[in-house]
Amino acid sequence: MKIREKAREVQKSVVLPEGTDERVVTAAAKIVELGVAKPIVLGHREDMERVANDLGISLRGVEIIEAKNPPKLETYAQKLVELREKKGMTLEKAREILLTDPNFYGAMMVKLKDADAMVSGSNSPTADVLRAGLQVIGTRPGIKTVSSVFVMELTERQESYGDVLLFGDCSVIPVPTAEQLADIAEASVVTAHNVVGMQGKVALMTFSTKGSAHHPDVDVVIEAGKILEERNVKFQYTAEVQADAAIVKSIAMKKCPESKVAGNANILIFPNLAAGNIGYKLVQRLAGANAYGPLIQGLAAPINDLSRGCSVDDIVNLVAITAVQAAE
Ligand code: ACO
Repeated sequence: MKIREKAREVQKSVVLPEGTDERVVTAAAKIVELGVAKPIVLGHREDMERVANDLGISLRGVEIIEAKNPPKLETYAQKLVELREKKGMTLEKAREILLTDPNFYGAMMVKLKDADAMVSGSNSPTADVLRAGLQVIGTRPGIKTVSSVFVMELTERQESYGDVLLFGDCSVIPVPTAEQLADIAEASVVTAHNVVGMQGKVALMTFSTKGSAHHPDVDVVIEAGKILEERNVKFQYTAEVQADAAIVKSIAMKKCPESKVAGNANILIFPNLAAGNIGYKLVQRLAGANAYGPLIQGLAAPINDLSRGCSVDDIVNLVAITAVQAAE
């Protein structure tokens, strides 16, 4: 995928708001060493320097923002009030949020262009990172839905779909509507092109292939396909297919021979978050695939979420991907 090379070319600044975590400090040093981004870490300078000393790493090139006394607290607090006043935000509350929730300080840095992007989540649940993104950054102009994809790098190349698949949405929208499923499909095609350099062929999956089962949940997926048709999208897609028909040519030939995408799909859209989240974790754990992401799509500037079990390399890789997203 050559993500690191791409990231090196674009040289974006990425804020890592969780500088209290040793993995984040180590990753920041590695990011500088590899040149994949300009890391800005929100943390406690003395603690970070002690960690670096203990680990024998250098923090040269890492910009540190002192979390106890952040320099732009007042400016950011005023902006947060401006953004969330209708939701009852006051200056006092805004200062407290920015001092106690590093995701909000980091997101505000991105909002006010003090950083190009943010990667967080090594110490906070996905929902907290997403809320900071949704409340502070908001959606891109013209985009209603924030969603996500995982880039799944498989251990073996298949003739039909290669060795990289995108899975969406595995992290954001618990129960998507038909319109949101269509939005997820569209956004995933853009991410596939921008981040992976891949031409997306989308399968909107469910437990039925072209009328083999009838259920209101299946109807939502069928409706999503109709919405894509009405939108006259320029990518190839098929709606209402089971996972095997989506990626196994011989099964697609039996179940839906008229579809050009079934059997060759490289973007798999799950009908809901339960299926998506379970699906990507099973492929990761049982098939040994590398799962990069979740890459959040639809925000006005990139914010990406780490798993709390992430390794230093996971952080470095996600920062590289996020830097590439920031360049788009
Ligand atoms: N797209 C666009 N806008 C959205 C979305 C979305 N997907 N979700 C919420 N919003 C809007 C809200 O309507 C709200 O608008 P408003 O300020 O005009 O009222 C604004 O964004 C702020 O949203 P919140 O109210 O702060 O957040 P909400 O309670 O709606 O929750 C969240 C959003 C956090 C994304 C929720 O849907 C969630 O928890 N999703 C699941 C996250 C999760 O736990 N994933 C599984 C683990 S991830 C993993 O394993 C990799």
